[in-house]
Amino acid sequence: MNNGILRVKDVHKSYHIGRRAVKVLHGVSLSVQHGETLSIMGASGSGKSTLLHILGGLDKPDSGDVFFEEKSLVKMKPAKQAAFRAHRCGFIFQSYHLLPELDVLQNVMLPSMTVRCKDVRARAEHLLEQVGLAGRMDHRPMELSGGEQQRVAMARALMNDPELILADEPTGNLDSHTGKNVLHNLFDLAQSEERTLILVTHNEAVAQSCSRELVLKDGKLEE
Ligand SMILES: Nc1ncnc2c1ncn2[C@@H]1O[C@H](COP(=O)(O)OP(=O)(O)O)[C@@H](O)[C@H]1O
Ligand SMILES: [Mg+2]
Repeated sequence: MNNGILRVKDVHKSYHIGRRAVKVLHGVSLSVQHGETLSIMGASGSGKSTLLHILGGLDKPDSGDVFFEEKSLVKMKPAKQAAFRAHRCGFIFQSYHLLPELDVLQNVMLPSMTVRCKDVRARAEHLLEQVGLAGRMDHRPMELSGGEQQRVAMARALMNDPELILADEPTGNLDSHTGKNVLHNLFDLAQSEERTLILVTHNEAVAQSCSRELVLKDGKLEE
């Protein structure tokens, strides 16, 4: 039986500012199969980033649970959680979060620095070639355009060969032409390695190119 890669069960999340509670997620449930591509749309402030952070183990729900291959991310011990974030899940942020002192190749190799392996460099170079940056490997992030920086961030997210890729408005800071190219790269990378992709986007056309379209509204996910 195929239990899928990710199962979200009745997740609730609020933020507290002083005495005021801001309810963001109230009762989000979702099942995702291996190899699916999902888009999540929703108004600004509807909780898309909050949800994605919870799916990636970067934040915890107040109640409910998230199961990655039937293992609870909420109950997982810290060391196992760290391993999940390092090896099973690749996160791409709206702002690229590259390290300015490192060059492009070093930024991509970073998640594997603890893995001491000869193939690390070859894989980083391969990924950078796939996103069209073979000629930029020794550049610093400052010497790249926004679209190029985001492609470096994508290559880095895929470095450790994660089953699950979470992308939070990865083209939100880019013009539409550049954004299209970057997304093209992302879909190519996800599909060539049969990865599961969950993509937060504001773009209807982009959402439609995913195998499932979801909307986050009033704290709940609608199909
Ligand atoms: N760390 C935080 N502390 C307090 N409120 C927060 C925090 N992060 C997000 N929020 C609030 O939660 C709501 C959802 O935020 P977010 O998940 O970033 O929405 P989206 O990504 O859909 O724009 C917003 O109203 C935001 O102001
Ligand atoms: Mg957001």
